[in-house]
Amino acid sequence: MIEASDSSAAIAALAQTKPEFTLLGFLNDAMAPGERIGGVPVLGPFLSWRELPEDATFVAPLHKAGAMRERVAIVADLGIPEHCWTTIIDPRSAVASDAVIGLGCFVAPFASIGPGACLGSHTVARIGAHVSHDCTVGSFVFIGTNAVVCGYSKLHDGAYIAPSATIRDRCTVGTFAVVGLGSVVSRDVPDFVEVAGSPARRKPGPAGGGQGP
Ligand SMILES: CC(C)(COP(=O)(O)OP(=O)(O)OC[C@H]1O[C@@H](n2cnc3c(N)ncnc32)[C@H](O)[C@@H]1OP(=O)(O)O)[C@@H](O)C(=O)NCCC(=O)NCCS
Repeated sequence: MIEASDSSAAIAALAQTKPEFTLLGFLNDAMAPGERIGGVPVLGPFLSWRELPEDATFVAPLHKAGAMRERVAIVADLGIPEHCWTTIIDPRSAVASDAVIGLGCFVAPFASIGPGACLGSHTVARIGAHVSHDCTVGSFVFIGTNAVVCGYSKLHDGAYIAPSATIRDRCTVGTFAVVGLGSVVSRDVPDFVEVAGSPARRKPGPAGGGQGP
């Protein structure tokens, strides 16, 4: 697992209970090989994925508000082939039988993904998050704990929905846009824009510390 967020702890705990998984360890650029995270060893830096067994698969919950563009670039630059990414769906989540979930995603305990919803690659739905029916969620999107994305909404690539935010039905959240904690989005959020509050209002400057186009 390519490690940088507290999704990692949840995924590690789940993997350790599943006979079909062997959690080899974490890849971590900030810690030395052999150090442990919750008892699980750090195997080496991110780039050492190439030294792992050929059948090793990966998940990379690197999402962080204000740093989504850099994190997407880190994942892309690793050059991990598509077939080496794994998707982890916690058995305590509720995923509709016709929902489509891409490679490298993590659906946490008590998250729910409704009928007709579609998630791209490397997207995370944290504990208790709800993605309602017919939503279209892009790649490397973060949907925080207890966030609610109502029906027919669209979250574009790299969007960050902080915990407990609510997205009104049929709203669009743009590419790399950020929706703050507990916000209620009732209008479309343009690409690269940060909004917060209820109703959510635009904050000055682009999302992610001045990295907009
Ligand atoms: C929206 C957000 C990105 C803004 O961060 P920021 O640009 O650093 O803004 P600040 O914290 O400096 O706050 C600026 C102002 O906006 C207000 N504000 C910040 N977040 C807000 C929110 N979610 N709702 C309403 N107001 C908010 C602050 O109270 C402050 O108001 P003030 O100037 O009157 O005191 C941030 O608050 C946020 O929600 N980050 C997500 C954190 C997260 O996801 N944590 C969980 C990780 S698992």
